[in-house]
Amino acid sequence: MKIAPSILSADFSELAGEVARVAQEADLLHVDVMDGHFVPNLTIGPPVIKSLRKRTDLYFDCHLMVDNPGDLLDDFADAGADGCTVHIEVGDPRPLFGRIRELGMRVGLTFNPDTPFDAVEPYLDEIDVLLFMSVFPGFGGQAFIPSVLDKVAAARRAVDERGLPVELEIDGGIDPETGARAAAAGVDILVAGSAIFHADDPAAAARGIREAAGPGRARQSS
Ligand code: DX5
Ligand code: ZN
Repeated sequence: MKIAPSILSADFSELAGEVARVAQEADLLHVDVMDGHFVPNLTIGPPVIKSLRKRTDLYFDCHLMVDNPGDLLDDFADAGADGCTVHIEVGDPRPLFGRIRELGMRVGLTFNPDTPFDAVEPYLDEIDVLLFMSVFPGFGGQAFIPSVLDKVAAARRAVDERGLPVELEIDGGIDPETGARAAAAGVDILVAGSAIFHADDPAAAARGIREAAGPGRARQSS
């Protein structure tokens, strides 16, 4: 099981230090980019990512909650993003996938809790990561929406049946208990913000989520 701490819940005045505190337990770093339009919150963008790039080698998993991702992809690549995940709700994602790949980044697609799996299923063989939103995007610290687990299970079946190398990632309300349920449904990557960065020991919190999730598919398939 991979753990992706979400820096949305970190202390932005100490960002590099906050990242260093979880780095040992982080497989990737989840970066929430919000524009105040696609979601009613405003966070960070390429300049902050570029600064942070100088302070860590962690994989930057950028979740773009913006109306105009296509206008920003070059800036994210230039800033050092490793992957960019775009929302199906902004429209046809194919031109975005093409540009993300041209820029040498990994391609992610995500969808809101009220968007059906059918909306993203046609793109499974064009993406590297499918991100399930288990809260409505915009804020950390919201309650996990359990109905997403049916979509995870459906995607797990589809990906396995077709032998696709797509990783399944889940974001929102993840803690040891919900993380274990998501793991059982078949996710590969758990994003967690408040459960990690609001803990006294963020690395121990990340480890706790990983341990509660168990070995994931590695054990199940052996
Ligand atoms: C929500 C963001 C999440 C957020 C999760 O819009 O996409 O990545 O940081 O925070 P928690 O883990 O606190 O729900
Ligand atoms: Zn996110």
